[in-house]
Amino acid sequence: MMAERPHVFVFRKVLFHERIAEILAPVADVSFHDTEDPPAEAAVRARLPGVAGLIPSSLDPVTAPMMAAAPGLRVVGNYGVGYNNVDVAAATARRIPVTNTPGVLTEATADTTWTLLLAAARRAVEADAYVRAGTFDGWRGSLFPGMELNGKALGIIGLGLIGQAVARRALGFGMRVIYAGRRRAAPEAERALGARCVPLEDLLRQADVVSLHCPLTPETRHLLDARRLALMKPTALLINTARGPVVDERALVEALRARRIAGAGLDVYEEEPTLAPGLAELPTVVLFPHIGSSTLEAREGMARLAAENVRAALEGRRPPNLVNPQVWPAAGP
Ligand code: DGY
Repeated sequence: MMAERPHVFVFRKVLFHERIAEILAPVADVSFHDTEDPPAEAAVRARLPGVAGLIPSSLDPVTAPMMAAAPGLRVVGNYGVGYNNVDVAAATARRIPVTNTPGVLTEATADTTWTLLLAAARRAVEADAYVRAGTFDGWRGSLFPGMELNGKALGIIGLGLIGQAVARRALGFGMRVIYAGRRRAAPEAERALGARCVPLEDLLRQADVVSLHCPLTPETRHLLDARRLALMKPTALLINTARGPVVDERALVEALRARRIAGAGLDVYEEEPTLAPGLAELPTVVLFPHIGSSTLEAREGMARLAAENVRAALEGRRPPNLVNPQVWPAAGP
């Protein structure tokens, strides 16, 4: 009798979903939720009893009760680098490997960070709206004075792959880099970037631009609360392409309203897709709809890595991007 093929469920019809199907075809049957919108809970629940692999996007929760309802689950392959949507502790307790897609979206996310940074520093959205409204009636020296970046301090919170790619770009703009984070970067990376490690509160006091690149964990939730936002310079900008809940968004609105900080560039929100009251009315913020990794190149890489990780696990090989290595037996001597 032929063994039944494993079944992998993909939570959304993501860009390049056909790559996922192609990579997994030799080892599994793949089904997709049929739109780009998040599937209803009931639609996911119905798949769980027979599923061997799940491919959620970083916005789709994979919870302990869902894992309990999926006794044959052998791998969760996140389509995204951030995996705060997955209860990794519950997966580890069940010895289920969880994977993500690092590396392929580093440059895209660093570019998005700089797009927001430059747009906020040079008031690009306000200036664009001014022209579109037909208000532009000739050159004036007083129009939209912004912040010059040359010689200013960029404060990076979380100098991982994406933080380092953001820092590399800063060198071209003549900025100094300081950073804070859970882990100290390798000395070679610090040297190459001219990056100095400082305590978080010193970073907030010294930086002209603060950019967030840390994962969302219980320790980083509301890392920037009202008290820490108050440490920033009144001329400083805050850029967030990491995760919304790292910032207390209501406190941020208050700080911007009271001009305790000068502006912000945000790609992510605390209760996505809902914005904190008042945020969208502020002219000093630039708002993107969570498109940090949205380049064709990065999306293709994310689809490929998510599928390759799941395929490896289903074939009994160690997935290349395992986030809970404790579940994988150590290689023999
Ligand atoms: C990520 O990869 O974590 C991005 O936020 C997109 O999901």
